[in-house]
Amino acid sequence: MCGIVGYVGKNQAPSILIDGLNKLEYRGYDSAGIAVHDGQNINILKTKGRLSNLIKLVIENPLTGTLGIGHTRWATHGAPSDVNSHPHMSEDHVIAVVHNGIIENYMEIKAELLEKGYHFISETDTETIAHLIDCYYRDGFSFEDAVFKAVSRLEGAYALSIICRDCPGTLIAVRKGAPLVIGKGEGENFIASDIPALLNYTREVYFLEDNEIAVLTENSITIYDKDKNVVNRDIYHVTWDIEAAEKSGYAHFMLKEIHEQPKIVRETILKRVPENGDGIVLDNIKLDKQELDNIDRIYVVACGTAYYAGLIGKHLIEKICRIPVISEVASEFRYMDPILDERTLLIVVSQSGETADTLEALRIAKRNGARVLAIVNAVGSSIAREADDVFYILAGPEIAVASTKAYSAQVAAMYILTCHIALAVGKMTEEEFKAIRDELYTLPSKIELILQKENVEKKLAEKYKDVRNVFFIGRGLDYLVSQEGSLKLKEIAYLHSEAYAAGELKHGPIAMIDENTLVVAIAAQEELIEKTINNIKEVKARGAKTMAIAMKGNTKIAEVADDVIYIPRTMGILAPVLANIPNQLFAYYMALSLGTDIDKPRNLAKSVTVE
Ligand code: F6R
Repeated sequence: MCGIVGYVGKNQAPSILIDGLNKLEYRGYDSAGIAVHDGQNINILKTKGRLSNLIKLVIENPLTGTLGIGHTRWATHGAPSDVNSHPHMSEDHVIAVVHNGIIENYMEIKAELLEKGYHFISETDTETIAHLIDCYYRDGFSFEDAVFKAVSRLEGAYALSIICRDCPGTLIAVRKGAPLVIGKGEGENFIASDIPALLNYTREVYFLEDNEIAVLTENSITIYDKDKNVVNRDIYHVTWDIEAAEKSGYAHFMLKEIHEQPKIVRETILKRVPENGDGIVLDNIKLDKQELDNIDRIYVVACGTAYYAGLIGKHLIEKICRIPVISEVASEFRYMDPILDERTLLIVVSQSGETADTLEALRIAKRNGARVLAIVNAVGSSIAREADDVFYILAGPEIAVASTKAYSAQVAAMYILTCHIALAVGKMTEEEFKAIRDELYTLPSKIELILQKENVEKKLAEKYKDVRNVFFIGRGLDYLVSQEGSLKLKEIAYLHSEAYAAGELKHGPIAMIDENTLVVAIAAQEELIEKTINNIKEVKARGAKTMAIAMKGNTKIAEVADDVIYIPRTMGILAPVLANIPNQLFAYYMALSLGTDIDKPRNLAKSVTVE
């Protein structure tokens, strides 16, 4: 939800800001802008639409200056428009602000400022912040202190980057509930919502914590808590390369990330289940028999794709470990008054580690004494920092808005976690574990085999691009894969698509089936396949086009479905990670055929840091 950048140093800020925004455009892309201090004044360029519109504007109206802030927006308050774009300025052009998040009490502050004679030109909550800081500044507070005063009044979740006309060498960053990273350079310093924006300049970063304010000059970074005590923070060295955040010759980040899956699944598995080791290495994750004996209920909570990965975990933990697991989307969990105590383990799953609802679920659980284990991709993210234990999935930066490689790594993490719990509570023998482990090692090369045949999905997308409705159906684990497949198609191809437990079709949705409907049957759970074949027959009889995803060698399904995509054979419990790959490719090629913006689908943003 919105990307923010800031720069202070000796180099020209505009190109650095634009470069940073380019890496953050996945966070929001309905408008963009920069504010640059030219030594005397703050000059702003901002516009509705993609970053390319801003770049055009900057080329036509070059700005100069070595201090600046920038923003790429995902609208919350006020429609995307030039005037609602960030940065926002105070009326006298003294203070400029970019903001990611929501100020919940802005109406109240706005009313107060209106009474004091301030005028507002935008519909945003952000403009209130610029005026509020300006108000304290006019009252005689220094720039820094005016920011502290203003921030103490703000309610909500936000990250801010602020500059002041009268302080041409100072950049201020504020964080509460929205991510912000500080990059330490040589004679220059940076602020960004996410690490990729910094990697062209530095690998040394500080993660700002909630309620902290950082004051940056070209030679100094000072982090304060909300009471203005100086905070000492360890520097974090980023180990991954800039290439990881670039397209490397692929047409889209999504396609690149789909193709990274063999490597990522391999790394996730090998880090925890080393080839020459004795078993599962969880490092500091505290989940031994004694701890597990103290747990009588597990929740799996997440949003979107991460939730669907979580569902695989719920299914496996219940099936194999025989421990009750409740799964819930985080946006519901936080309002359903869940039963939580010190005998509860909450597993949260999140690629970004910043999703507001998932973070709040974690906090509710902790407040009630529950243990929290987070399965997270983004190192140092809020969820990773606040959880009791973290299982990093090591997927590297995921830039495409539609999550692909994170899902596969999250599911791989669920396999490892399930085996660990099962071994600890005596529900899996060493022999059973070894059989699963050996099969786990084969998954990366099996994913590779599916990817090598991506022409299959490409042709099927061409064939089915005119369908109006899609149903994904399956049973057991296949149904869980259906849900992720359906989400992918919705979000990037903008196609009406639903996932249904195959057995539920007859209870209503079958009424919608006609010749404009495509039914995608996930049929990788071989013991359930006969029943799914019957469902395919039922929808065919009503005119639907049918496509199935099944394990190699299953010829029966080819007799009923119009098309079958075969995946390599594997154990049923490991099939989801393979069966999902054709879904990803199919969604990608459908979107390509339909001409949508694949990496930045309309109305979406990568990291949902608002409720
Ligand atoms: C779908 C997608 C979203 C995210 C969801 C949770 O492709 O990307 O549904 O999975 O917003 O995000 P994280 O995993 O960052 O908590």
